[in-house]
Amino acid sequence: MKIATFLTDDEADSLHFDAEDLSPLKQAFPEATITNHLTSATFLEDAKDVDIVLTWHFEADWYRNFPNLSLIYTPAAGGDWVALDPRGNIPVIHGSFHGPILGESLLSAVLFMNHRMPAMIRNHQARQWDRKLQGGTRLLATQTILIIGMGNIGAYCAKLLAPLAREIIGVRQLADENTKGVTDLPHLLPHADHVILLLPGKEETNRFMNKERLAQMKRGSYVYNFGRGNSLHAEDLIPALERLAGAFLDVTETEPLPAESPLWEHEKVFITPHSSCMYEDYTERYMMEVISQMTRDSKALLQ
Ligand code: OXD
Repeated sequence: MKIATFLTDDEADSLHFDAEDLSPLKQAFPEATITNHLTSATFLEDAKDVDIVLTWHFEADWYRNFPNLSLIYTPAAGGDWVALDPRGNIPVIHGSFHGPILGESLLSAVLFMNHRMPAMIRNHQARQWDRKLQGGTRLLATQTILIIGMGNIGAYCAKLLAPLAREIIGVRQLADENTKGVTDLPHLLPHADHVILLLPGKEETNRFMNKERLAQMKRGSYVYNFGRGNSLHAEDLIPALERLAGAFLDVTETEPLPAESPLWEHEKVFITPHSSCMYEDYTERYMMEVISQMTRDSKALLQ
């Protein structure tokens, strides 16, 4: 079995898998030939007899270079960076370990916004002792949190927030026994204190949280985007912030967010650079997950 890895990330150390991060893979599959690539050029040169790929990135026309390929694994939760096989033959297995990591980031964001920390940072920077700024804070125990895009990651977020909030409501495209559907949003948005977007980056989610939906949100509530930036555009959000208490954006419609974006200087907006999963534990958690998936899948392939 030949495994090729292309898990380089030049921007974010915590998402870059180096030789040490990959060593558990070598230990788990001692009989396999494992080649680790830092560039797409060497990855593609090496493609001919590769059975399994672990990658952040794969383009549709790369499938032609890999005649023996049977599976692609990617740490990404979203389908943005690995194109699907145009012939529909090669499955792509996405990481599903993000919940506890993203959940902790979201929990910190909700506590941070709820306790008026953006204003307190300005207070601190200006060396001001303003004891009025946090006076409007209300306990989460009196508040409702709406999670739009309630999948596996949303369920972890709900679990972490549940002991603190009065109520957590999950929303999926279609309602089921545990969640509400998108058609329920006009009734839910006016009552939610925190609206969390965890939507995937698809055409159907483009500008999902548009002017109309933002206008349905409760005055003084908060919106968070931890899914994909296409679902909430700056031109819809900025006018809505006259009524809302704030927005915490981990993802933005253009990434990196250009320096001239008015979002950077808006006093009600707090931005993190698509970093909700950047934890030192990331590579180790993914390696544990992928090794157990590969053990199961390679047994199935040999049967
Ligand atoms: C992902 C992400 O999809 O980090 O994993 O956005």
